[in-house]
Amino acid sequence: MKKIVWMTLLSSLALMAGSDEGEKLFKSYCWGCHHQTAEAFGPSFKTIAAKRNKGEIIAQIVDPKGTYKSLGYRRNSMPAFDDLNATQLDALADYILTFKENR
Ligand code: HEC
Repeated sequence: MKKIVWMTLLSSLALMAGSDEGEKLFKSYCWGCHHQTAEAFGPSFKTIAAKRNKGEIIAQIVDPKGTYKSLGYRRNSMPAFDDLNATQLDALADYILTFKENR
């Protein structure tokens, strides 16, 4: 019993750390063009979360030139962020998906 409580506590701590990291990355790399809920130069994270899954989000971050057409855009104006590591991409995608309503 004690062990279960401990593990639940640890995994919720890990989740919190993950979304913190995602928010930090969002503020340093994405905020100029995307806002959380308002449309800016790029779509809001709320709009993205409503229609995309994690794989689509990560693909767009690392290779927007390869994905913009299949996502329905006529041009690509987003730069590729191909220097982010897998953990950072994961945290960013999770952060975007926290804006999904009625999960
Ligand atoms: C220079 C402006 C700019 C920056 C910086 C930027 N984006 Fe974008 N983003 C766009 C634009 C414009 C689009 C529309 C499609 C395109 O241009 O490729 C887009 C599209 C997207 C999409 C797909 C939208 C959809 O319909 O699902 C995702 C996901 C995304 N951006 C995530 C990010 C993340 C995460 C970051 C930060 C690491 C980021 N963007 C940084 C401008 C930007």
